[in-house]
Amino acid sequence: MKSYSIALIPGDGIGQDVTDAAWQVLSTVARHSGFTLTGTSFPWSCAFYKETGAMMPADGIEALRPFDAILLGSVGWPAEVPDSISLHGLLLPIRKAFVQYANIRPHRLLSGVEGPLKASDFDILCVRENTEGEYSGAGGRVHQGTADEVAVETSIFTRAGVERILRFAFEQARQRRGMLASVTKSNAQKHSMVFWDEVTRQLAAEYPDVEVTSYHIDAMAARVVMAPESLDVVVASNLFGDILTDLGAAIQGGLGFAASANINPDRSAPSMFEPVHGSAPDIAHLGIANPIAAIWSGAMMLEHLGEREAAGMIMAALERTTIRGIGTVPGKDRTRSITAAVLAALD
Ligand code: IPM
Ligand code: MN
Repeated sequence: MKSYSIALIPGDGIGQDVTDAAWQVLSTVARHSGFTLTGTSFPWSCAFYKETGAMMPADGIEALRPFDAILLGSVGWPAEVPDSISLHGLLLPIRKAFVQYANIRPHRLLSGVEGPLKASDFDILCVRENTEGEYSGAGGRVHQGTADEVAVETSIFTRAGVERILRFAFEQARQRRGMLASVTKSNAQKHSMVFWDEVTRQLAAEYPDVEVTSYHIDAMAARVVMAPESLDVVVASNLFGDILTDLGAAIQGGLGFAASANINPDRSAPSMFEPVHGSAPDIAHLGIANPIAAIWSGAMMLEHLGEREAAGMIMAALERTTIRGIGTVPGKDRTRSITAAVLAALD
């Protein structure tokens, strides 16, 4: 029997609630499908930081490396630990250390979910660069706290980094509807973004079957709202992709529905799966967090592990749940009842 070892990092706030829910669904589907998932939980979080002074132990990355995949809830408890510490101590180092350079986020309406737009027939896959760009962490502050203070944060765009994310996006487009939108701001940022556009054009020659269009990020933001059905695969830098995927979440009904996968396409290290939403400390442990984004992320994990059919079973169960109106309206259904409905729909 096939067996996969999964590292579970529930993290903070509702991350724990939704990871529990996703794990129940994943374990059940594994039982039905004839493979085993073994979960090992890591308590790394802001609470862990308060106890130990670090978000994860010094050998945390090495502890995760042997796993087949990582399922993460959410990280952050800004009232207790500044986000700049918690994120740079756990989530971002994992993405970088494991070269999870492709952050993929599907944006479409599950059956029965109403978005805020008139359009409902959109199906967008955002491919966000996930290891460099604006979130490289390169920079510093001098003359701190004085009137002469200077803060510098440098975006890093390497040819290797830009080429591999674009190539990944071209490949995705090829497997979908053959359209790729590459997003920059090359009219204003004349070095890095002009470079990105150039690499896009160079690669386009290798993918004559993919129709590629370059957009500026501001125009793309408007297009996502005005004509989302015109988009297939959208590829963007770390910052632009971050912002666009919250917009994508909004048009698919909210952050409760937005799933994501941090993929290492070369499979040289584990990939990580997590909902797009944050830890929402205000509703943590009240039992009202929507687990759908986390469950969908779990389906993306199975897909990555090669368990396509099982992933499809989860997606079908999600839609059988939402089409009945369960989990579709924020605050209406409890985490437990949404999870129970998905579990029941698996049979
Ligand atoms: C996301 C989150 C993170 C990101 C934050 C918490 C650092 O917003 O996954 O989109 O921007 O990568
Ligand atoms: Mn984000």
